[in-house]
Amino acid sequence: MPPYLRLGSLPRKRHLAHTHEPGFKGEGIYYEEVVTQAGFSGPYSIVYHLRPPTRVVRIEPAGTLPSELGDEPTLRHHHLKTRSIPRAGDPISGRLALMGNEDVAVSRCRPLKPQEELYRNADADELIFVHHGSGTLRTMFGPLPFRDLDYIVIPRSTTYRLEFDPAPEADLLVIEARGSLTVPARYRNDDGQLKLGAPYSERDLHGPRETGVVDLEEETPILVKDGCRLTRYTMAAHPFDVVGWDGMVYPYTFNAEDFEPITGRVHQPPPVQQTFEAPGFVVCTFAPRMLDTDREAIKVPYAHSNVQADEVLYYVRGRFGSRRGVEESSFTLHPRGIPHGPHPGTIVASRDALWTDELAVMIDTVRPLRLTRAAMIRDDASYPLSWMD
Ligand SMILES: [Fe+2]
Repeated sequence: MPPYLRLGSLPRKRHLAHTHEPGFKGEGIYYEEVVTQAGFSGPYSIVYHLRPPTRVVRIEPAGTLPSELGDEPTLRHHHLKTRSIPRAGDPISGRLALMGNEDVAVSRCRPLKPQEELYRNADADELIFVHHGSGTLRTMFGPLPFRDLDYIVIPRSTTYRLEFDPAPEADLLVIEARGSLTVPARYRNDDGQLKLGAPYSERDLHGPRETGVVDLEEETPILVKDGCRLTRYTMAAHPFDVVGWDGMVYPYTFNAEDFEPITGRVHQPPPVQQTFEAPGFVVCTFAPRMLDTDREAIKVPYAHSNVQADEVLYYVRGRFGSRRGVEESSFTLHPRGIPHGPHPGTIVASRDALWTDELAVMIDTVRPLRLTRAAMIRDDASYPLSWMD
């Protein structure tokens, strides 16, 4: 989780009355809400509302999301081009599901219009990679600015609105984690601090910097997703009425360009690029970096047979040294069971290179991934044969 943070007005100790006169209905207090993970055993935050956060006016069904994962007749590599998927919907409804399994779901989103109503994902931590765009994430924890190449981590059950600045047009990669998505445990010392050898530090993780109290006694709908089910909750008041909070559960950003690559005399394996982890998968950042320095080093990754992993790369920027034919917003999926490696000619072409400006996001999953039908129709059928000259 991100480091402990405190903002706004808090009482001296937790679970004591936080006095506020006259307060809602003359009760004389702010209303405490404990936001926990892993039951009451995991990280938590404690927030203080102007009004009780439990005042539901209406609950209505709001539809279901179709389960779109398809079955493929063969085990094979895939290459999907998503740069030009049509703009559609808003930052929530415009998500195009591409692949997933029991642990993770991967979507692309190129929204056409602003987010229509508040949204809350009850089942998954969300990791939104901002390929293009800037703006503000609005939550009860206060405004959180974001920009190009930010990862935005939104803990499950955080009600939010993604507001984009007018230009450039938003372009997002959305990763949903069924388990808790967090900083890799091996980057932390026994006291929880990020180790000196980790590829980023607490200074690179950015939470809200101020509270953003919305004092509005007005019916406010929230679209809640759990599994494939959508429910519309109408609250009696706006839920962002928080005057203060502290803890370790809150949305935060990490910019991909703040990742400090670890390079060596010869090629380093992908775990050195690890950025986040969650049960069943990891997320890595291939950031611009020095290439291997030995005079005889092969500067592109060796061919490898994935062992108990499906490997997805999302290409963000730059020329990807080991791969031909990919473009910005391409995905490659190299599944378990069959080897992949540098494309023909790329070993020689990279021999004199000292630096790569490539930027890519990798998702490695333990369980097999399945593509959605929307992904299958974007798949390059010739890609598995592209290692032939
Ligand atoms: Fe690979």
